Amino acid sequence: MNPPTRISRRLAVIQSRLAPILPILSDPLFTGRLEDPLACDFLFGNPQEMPLSGFVEALQRAVTPQSKDWFAYKMSEPEARRAVAVGLRAWRGIDVLPEDIFLTNGAFAGLAVVLNALVDPGDEVIFISPPWFFYEALILNAGGEPVRVRVAADYNLDPDAIAASLTPRTRALIINSPNNPTGRVYPPETLARLGEILSTASARNGRTIYLLSDEAYSRIVYDDRKFTSPTTFYPDSFLIYTYGKTLLTPGQRVGYIVLPPEMPDREALREALFASQLLTGYAWPNALLQHALPDLDRLSIDIRHLQRKRDRMVGALREIGYEVHVPEGTFYLLPRSPLPDDLELVRRLAARHIYCLPGTAVEMPGFFRISLTATDEMIERSIPEFAAMFEEARQRVSPARVEA
Ligand SMILES: Cc1ncc(COP(=O)(O)O)c(C=O)c1O
Repeated sequence: MNPPTRISRRLAVIQSRLAPILPILSDPLFTGRLEDPLACDFLFGNPQEMPLSGFVEALQRAVTPQSKDWFAYKMSEPEARRAVAVGLRAWRGIDVLPEDIFLTNGAFAGLAVVLNALVDPGDEVIFISPPWFFYEALILNAGGEPVRVRVAADYNLDPDAIAASLTPRTRALIINSPNNPTGRVYPPETLARLGEILSTASARNGRTIYLLSDEAYSRIVYDDRKFTSPTTFYPDSFLIYTYGKTLLTPGQRVGYIVLPPEMPDREALREALFASQLLTGYAWPNALLQHALPDLDRLSIDIRHLQRKRDRMVGALREIGYEVHVPEGTFYLLPRSPLPDDLELVRRLAARHIYCLPGTAVEMPGFFRISLTATDEMIERSIPEFAAMFEEARQRVSPARVEA
């Protein structure tokens, strides 16, 4: 018999699956960046500049109570729901009913709430690799069995691989477009194909396979590209969003889940989501953020500026010799590591005050991730260091060739 432990076996398993990312959150080599005045911080999608002034003003306006209920318990407030519906029409050209909008404290909670509402023990939930760090853990926490499907070589979804991984036990599929970490925006043709595959498999199984569409970066797309929601092609979809990226305020937690108007049996699902939000630890955004939402929904960081940073960084890295593709959305670059061991690379970069995420943390060993939320000044200061690192790596990898 296994010795008793102080924590649940379920959580112990989940913690072991988080092993590639949890040490980075607490490793002094990385946490030290917060006290490092020379830090060029490309580690996570955290803001490196002061927040949008409109954001601060919206919160200031919302903080003044206008009724005795201003700071009472809040669920999905009608005014916030209406603001989301108006925003979805304006930003994305889609119509949804306010009662099909569920305010959450971020996409993190949105994913947990939906998984908790759908998944029974033994159900399989597919996620795409390279993934956002926490999909596997969230699936396990909901009692499901994670099934990993790799993207195609061009980082697009691989519909055949997804089709091959569907079984009678498949309950849901999580996809994320624009994708963290690859920056890929999945094209409509691929999404249409995926919709067909899911419809066919659901009919075959006699049980719906749900699509969870994580659209955290849907408003961060480049080159005037149009974002197509994966929910467009499959009615049994949940659209999950966070304002944390568009506003670059991930510590003020607000987002939503939306049921598309084509979703069958919405009544039962509405009730299930409500219960799941309660049991996920009251996963509604706090009152202040809900009051501010009509203003917040109209705001965004400067996407053109982000695009200029992308172009500057991709251009400079390529000139140095790094292999890096051009992301279509999100604020991440995913260059190939010039050292075979990406963990060693990020350690060496940290010694130069350049903080990047090892690809290993996102199932991309041999790569590293750069967050473009860094300032222009950090980007400029980092370029000679990236060049020196490239040279150092070249000498370490093939010293004989360099000497010859
Ligand atoms: C793909 C993806 N989904 C969901 C989230 C969670 O967003 P939030 O922390 O704003 O809830 C993130 C944040 O990094 C993300 O990158």
